[in-house]
Amino acid sequence: MDRFLVTGGARLSGSVPIAGAKNSALKLMAAALLAPGRTVLSNVPRIQDCLTMVEVLQHLGADVAWEDDLTIDAGAVLSVEAPYELVSRMRASILVLGPLLARCGRARVAMPGGCNIGSRKIDLHVRGLEKMGARFSSEHGFLEGVAPRGLSGAIISLDFPSVGATENVMMAAVAARGTTVIENAAREPELSDLAEFLQEMGGRIDGVGTPTIEIEGTGDFHPVRHSVIPDRIEAGTFAIATCATGGQVVLERARGDHMDLVLAKLTELGADAVATEAGVAVGLEDRPRAVDFVTLPYPGFPTDLQPQMMALLSVAEGTSIVTENVFESRFMFVDELNRMGADIRTEGHHAVIRGVDHLSAAPVRALDIRAGAAMVIAALCADGVTAVEDMYHVDRGYQDFEAKLLSLGAEVRRERQLTPALW
Ligand code: UD1
Repeated sequence: MDRFLVTGGARLSGSVPIAGAKNSALKLMAAALLAPGRTVLSNVPRIQDCLTMVEVLQHLGADVAWEDDLTIDAGAVLSVEAPYELVSRMRASILVLGPLLARCGRARVAMPGGCNIGSRKIDLHVRGLEKMGARFSSEHGFLEGVAPRGLSGAIISLDFPSVGATENVMMAAVAARGTTVIENAAREPELSDLAEFLQEMGGRIDGVGTPTIEIEGTGDFHPVRHSVIPDRIEAGTFAIATCATGGQVVLERARGDHMDLVLAKLTELGADAVATEAGVAVGLEDRPRAVDFVTLPYPGFPTDLQPQMMALLSVAEGTSIVTENVFESRFMFVDELNRMGADIRTEGHHAVIRGVDHLSAAPVRALDIRAGAAMVIAALCADGVTAVEDMYHVDRGYQDFEAKLLSLGAEVRRERQLTPALW
């Protein structure tokens, strides 16, 4: 159980390399199950969640080697079961459901756990795959799907543009008989990366990036090499941290075109945020101004940057109103921020943030990946030394977080918490 000790006050400056996108790499790794042979992925972030997905793939019988690149040999898929121990560590493990059903006609996946940010159901995944001919039952904490006669194309209209459901259906549909149409599909850049990967492998997909995706099933997949797109959420986190400390940072390789609304919001609160060929340059000299924002599926403002933005707005000039539309319990970290002197009141899925002129260090906890990043951002601009407990949440999603912050001039130190011996 590591904790972070953060001494507030240092302005972040310099440049920081942005890693590959967690939310893309995990899906590409699952999709590699479709192609017998060696898939090679580069720019996979070295984070705990990707290690968990390696374990999931190994459990299914794939050979995985991770040096500079990640090589997945899914020649022999021997098992169709993703166990609770792995799925409870990382909800994205359920993304093997679509590929396993497509390749083996069967999948047994433990019901997911993952970040505690709302009920996070999987009904849309299940209903989509059922429309394609799969049958599901659940017993003893496992969801079991079978498709004895294979999967067939169908028209699937999602109630909500769920990222995971769109991806699971898309991975199943590329190998199904006939044409699948996903209506009200998600449009996240990570989903476009997955579609590109599937197309390189032999899949036929149209309309990615729009609400209607059309997929022509085919049976012939070959393994390919693919590089993961840069992580827009890591880039956004460093951009917000830079603004919170009145700093100036270049986010190397960040894709400005994946961050339009985030950069627009940072500009609105007074920052200079410019996309260049090398990445994105962000700087803020004065105190941020209050801004309102609502989280929405892409291209809306990402829910995965809501906690970090709330930390920044807690020291803004004026009152901001934030509306969370994607996850129902994503304000749980607000009590932690308030313990540092923030003035935030929540009512349902709205939060009112009255900007205070400073935050003060207090012991706080990282409640999930992004809430943990938000606490570190608050600590970077607080008076004194803040201890952020439970950093393992943050390690699930950020590669070399400590080293990157140190290289930008932050005063941070990781402390290993040893469990007291019981004698
Ligand atoms: C992905 C991202 C996560 C991000 C989220 C929204 C990964 C590994 N995770 O999560 O970081 O915050 O997109 O951008 O890529 N829902 C249902 N039924 C379902 C599926 C979803 O009701 O079957 C609901 C969820 O409870 C949630 C909303 O839809 O309220 C959005 O979830 P979804 O887009 O599926 O997020 P994930 O794919 O789980």
